[in-house]
Amino acid sequence: MKELLATIKENKKIAEGIWAITLTLPEKVGKIKGGQFANLSVGDDSFPLKRPLGICSVQGDDITLCYQLKGDGTRRIAEKKAGEKLSVLLPLGNGFDLGDAKNIAVIGGGVGIFPLAAVVEEHLGKRNFYSYIGFRSAGYACLEDMFARGGRLTVATDDGSIGFKGNAVQAFLNDYKNIGADLIISCGPPVMLRALKAALAGHGIATKCLVSLEERMGCGIGACLVCVCKKADGGNARVCKDGPVFGIEEVEL
Ligand SMILES: Cc1cc2nc3c(=O)[nH]c(=O)nc-3n(C[C@H](O)[C@H](O)[C@H](O)COP(=O)(O)OP(=O)(O)OC[C@H]3O[C@@H](n4cnc5c(N)ncnc54)[C@H](O)[C@@H]3O)c2cc1C
Ligand code: FES
Repeated sequence: MKELLATIKENKKIAEGIWAITLTLPEKVGKIKGGQFANLSVGDDSFPLKRPLGICSVQGDDITLCYQLKGDGTRRIAEKKAGEKLSVLLPLGNGFDLGDAKNIAVIGGGVGIFPLAAVVEEHLGKRNFYSYIGFRSAGYACLEDMFARGGRLTVATDDGSIGFKGNAVQAFLNDYKNIGADLIISCGPPVMLRALKAALAGHGIATKCLVSLEERMGCGIGACLVCVCKKADGGNARVCKDGPVFGIEEVEL
């Protein structure tokens, strides 16, 4: 993990309320695993906390983070121009460990698709990915190319404006008997992860499932305990350091 002053290469809108920022890192940070995240400074001293964003793509010394305009911090980041510099701490968290799985179901909702795109990119040509990515409607859809390159892609929209009408979990359930997945990886809002957990139990699907959690964070490095979540065994875990990826049965959702 390193804190670096990165140069913005590009910062542009890619879908409704969604931006992609590409940063050139001034030095190597070692291997970045799909599912790891970066803590990005807002570039304004009145915002002391960095914002955690999943690393979406790695191209040599460049990394791309995609972000939804949510509050003041992400809006401020969207105002930054190419050539400006932002402090970034990375790579953080554990990332997805695919083991020797060959056929992987990828279930992503909303901003949860960004770290999943990095997993597909990292293992391109080495695994078969069956991706189910869900958006509110057509205008919010993005990164379809990245997922399509990894194998088969199903886009789902809540309003049916493109692709499957419904959410990503429903799209997966519609198809899971056809794909013989030996691993499921997922990231999305808590309501989606809860629906996935219930669906796996309800349909008797015993396939190993890893989920990436989103918690409010402070330090991002395991020191402040802002991000603690409850584990199924009664213990606690720090999402930033022990996660953000956990077995779906390991954590309370
Ligand atoms: C591991 C991880 C990966 C993430 N990856 C992405 C991603 O790839 N793309 C993306 O758009 N969003 C992602 N998020 C959510 C993103 O961090 C928040 O949307 C963002 O911090 C909001 O900042 P803000 O200043 O615009 O909003 P505000 O609501 O004004 O933020 C106020 C404070 O709350 C924190 N906060 C608010 N919402 C969240 C949240 N959902 N999770 C964590 N902290 C939050 C902010 O960091 C900030 O400190 C991720 C969160 C985590 C924990
Ligand atoms: S954010 Fe500080 S311990 Fe996780």
